[in-house]
Amino acid sequence: MELNPVQLYFEEHGQGFPVVLLHGFPLDHTIWEPVLSAIKEHARIILPDLRGNGQSPVTDGVYSMRLMAADLATLLDKLEIDRAILVGHSMGGYVSLAFAYAYPNRLAGLGLISTQAAADSPEKRQDRLNLADEIGRKGVRHLAEVMSARLTTRPELISPLRTLILKMNPKGAIGDLKGMAERSDMTEFLPSITVPSLVLAGAEDIILPIERSRTMAKMLGRAWLVEIPSAGHVPMMEYPQPVAEAIDQLIEGVSGYTPME
Ligand code: MLT
Repeated sequence: MELNPVQLYFEEHGQGFPVVLLHGFPLDHTIWEPVLSAIKEHARIILPDLRGNGQSPVTDGVYSMRLMAADLATLLDKLEIDRAILVGHSMGGYVSLAFAYAYPNRLAGLGLISTQAAADSPEKRQDRLNLADEIGRKGVRHLAEVMSARLTTRPELISPLRTLILKMNPKGAIGDLKGMAERSDMTEFLPSITVPSLVLAGAEDIILPIERSRTMAKMLGRAWLVEIPSAGHVPMMEYPQPVAEAIDQLIEGVSGYTPME
């Protein structure tokens, strides 16, 4: 398989053990801002925009999870980071699992937030391809209309999420959707991930039911599960404090720092 990685846009905060936070679809690194101040005290936080999202390069074609994992490996090479903790939200979680599979020695810890290991059902795959066609015809305004309210239980976040989705390049959104549609089922791979792993999800997520997180937590080698009762699909924006605490615990579990009060 020929992979042509791109140089991802990223931001960096804090010092310490490297932790990469990967956003989901159709979002960018700014979703992590609410949790940053609490965790950058203890770690070197790297916030990339995935290919075709945010300020990263937009390319033609399908963004397979494997390709996006290769983009990330290229970024870690550039930053001279051998091993990192990866925390992936939703599509960022799919990329994290693809990274864990392709580069197991580079993974020091794993956070899976509002995501799943399962592949798409045939119906879901078709829905994604239909949505990609519609974005091709109507632009990202259509995506913002169908997605922003579904992402959150907090009405005050709908408008900022809508604004974020409207910044998405349509070609990038189509590349993401086609990549997610063809992703592999990673469920059977989970037990072989033996690094400390955090699984976190909102109990009110209507995009990915929390049951998927419970299944992953059971199957991963060394995982614990954090459920945020009133959160939807973007818990880092909806309830940043418990999310920051959980990520902090993951960092502590991997790097052994002593958390501050
Ligand atoms: C995401 O938030 O990344 C996507 O909604 C995940 C998905 O559609 O499977």
